[in-house]
Amino acid sequence: MTPADAKKKISTLREKIARHDELYYRNAKPEIADFDYDALKRELADLEAKFPEFATQESPTEKVGDDRLASFTQYRHRARMQSLDNTYSEQEFREFHQRLVKLFNREELAYVIEPKVDGLAVSVTYEHGKLVRAVTRGNGEEGDDVTENAKTIHSLPRELKASKHAPIPDVIEIRGEIYLTTEEFQRINKEREEAGEELYANPRNLASGTIKQLDTKEVAKRKLEIVLYGVGFCEPAVADKQSGYHALVKQWGLPTVERYWCATGIDAAWAAVNELDKLRHSFAYATDGAVVKLDDFRLQREAGSTSKAPRWAIAYKFAAERAETRIKAITVQVGRTGVLTPVAELEPVLLAGTTVQRATLHNKDEIARKDIRIGDYVLVEKAGEIIPAVIEVNLKRRTPSCEPYQFPKKCPVCETPVVQLEGEVAMRCPNLSCPTQVRRRLGHFVSKGALDIDGLGGAMIDDLVEKGWVKEMPDLFRLKRDDLLTLGKNVGKSTDNLLAAIETAKTRELWRVIHGLGIPHVGVAASKDLAAHFRDLEKLADAKMEDFIANKTVVIAGIGETMAAAIVGFFAEPRNRAVVTELLEIGVKPQAPAAKAAGGSTVFAGKTFVLTGTLPTMTRDEAAEKIEAAGGKVSGSVSKKTSYVLAGAEAGSKLEKAKELGVAVIDEVEFVRMLNA
Ligand code: IVH
Repeated sequence: MTPADAKKKISTLREKIARHDELYYRNAKPEIADFDYDALKRELADLEAKFPEFATQESPTEKVGDDRLASFTQYRHRARMQSLDNTYSEQEFREFHQRLVKLFNREELAYVIEPKVDGLAVSVTYEHGKLVRAVTRGNGEEGDDVTENAKTIHSLPRELKASKHAPIPDVIEIRGEIYLTTEEFQRINKEREEAGEELYANPRNLASGTIKQLDTKEVAKRKLEIVLYGVGFCEPAVADKQSGYHALVKQWGLPTVERYWCATGIDAAWAAVNELDKLRHSFAYATDGAVVKLDDFRLQREAGSTSKAPRWAIAYKFAAERAETRIKAITVQVGRTGVLTPVAELEPVLLAGTTVQRATLHNKDEIARKDIRIGDYVLVEKAGEIIPAVIEVNLKRRTPSCEPYQFPKKCPVCETPVVQLEGEVAMRCPNLSCPTQVRRRLGHFVSKGALDIDGLGGAMIDDLVEKGWVKEMPDLFRLKRDDLLTLGKNVGKSTDNLLAAIETAKTRELWRVIHGLGIPHVGVAASKDLAAHFRDLEKLADAKMEDFIANKTVVIAGIGETMAAAIVGFFAEPRNRAVVTELLEIGVKPQAPAAKAAGGSTVFAGKTFVLTGTLPTMTRDEAAEKIEAAGGKVSGSVSKKTSYVLAGAEAGSKLEKAKELGVAVIDEVEFVRMLNA
């Protein structure tokens, strides 16, 4: 490779990696498998080693991925949070040891082998045994302060347990990972599926999306967990070995790894890695590798670190299970908003303990990018319990009869020509009467997260649509008992129960009706925000762009430009607007959220507060209750969107952040005055 070619390649790799870093660390929505990401990084590192003239401190190979978001207050770690070098190869794992052997001039090095937890890195600080802060890794130097959210984790004690053998240091930064159990991940995804919301691909993404939520109450609804395994800063020092430190963490009452191994020499360490591999599926958290660390802290210090990772530790990663199989066909599914999703129909293949027959191909661009064709042999990957994905085509097995895939020009259900909306990757069927869209829209409308009508399952909806009794949501409220009785399977009592359930649904909360309409991008949380703001369905339907975004600023917290455009666009469609009018005409009376506080005060409607420090006469929880009762919101961190910071004695970084951003700071006296105004 010529230097010019290398330069070009290095620059494209850097751009690619930067994009995937952003997707993984900031958006919690990675597009490629870890293994492929690691391969890109490896390719870049190799090129930079070969062509050192193009190496720079700014390269992603020199830095840790950055997870910081503008909406959080940043906090500087006392000790830097590093990343780890990783490998998938036994040989490289052994080379790691050989470097240390050379450095220390002895073979018999003692290691600790621990699970590599696939969560998101966090640093928890205890001062004099009291939990004071939880901060994400950020860029390694400073991270996002997620203390309030971390406090929703039940297993994270507010205070360390002291004992004779486990003295408590003045200040300690303990490192670990926040994660979700598979059960909790599946519970949340199921709820989202029922509510018609996008699913999360794996527990790690969901955990990382959750800890970065601005609404602590929403965080509390998901049972985040934590596991702590490392020491960052500690004053005074309390342990001289990683193994001793593990024991301390446990004695302080902190959740720690279920198992770790002590091994001397690389053969014993390798045996431990393999044992860990066999056991890892029984751990509470997803484990994607083993971390091998020199046990002795003194030797760790002597080995030192590169700019990014320590020389005294390495992660051996287990590649996710992959298998090769053939694509028999590509089918296209129609969603409730008309989005067409291509799906690979596979020759059944056994993968990570289950038979896989289908894998999503995401969209038209994704198929083109990977040049996936019907008849191709492809690599399918399934990490643990997660949705299978097509990774790449095995071109060696491609036959000339495999022609490039042509995305259908017509909807596979109603044959309406498909369209692509500006700025979207998805192809859509624009026909709102497309039978599949109608079925899915109705299914969403009656689902648990919307009108919650019992007795209206998929088969029943199919019947109602097929008979032509229901074409749109309002038709559900026009169903006739005599008609339903002719369906046979639904006689007498169950018909009456169904009709009663439909009648009851007429007075559901406003947010349920808003959510049930199926406006693109509008999920449960946004529906609640909209209901609280507009308090009336027609007012929402008639809202203009400037009711959402005025002078380039967001009017309703949580409803940004994309969502606003989706809402306005949705109701601009006469058919959607007509649904609203008809629902109201037929007697649907959505219930606006109760006017809050004694006397129905809404003095704080649309205002977001951040609380910090100790207030003179009330606790922060009491203040939060008063704010919410008066229509306001409480957030865990200060951003430009914060209306007021209510500060008491010994207010910390939030107060500084408020000053920095020019957010109004008030004390309790002012707060009470506003409340009573
Ligand atoms: S030690 C300086 N131990 O993996 C040493 N890290 O890919 C740094 N991780 O940033 C960390 N399990 O977030 C260590 N048992 C474990 C770990 C672990 C998961 C994470 C950690 C680190 C990342 C590197």
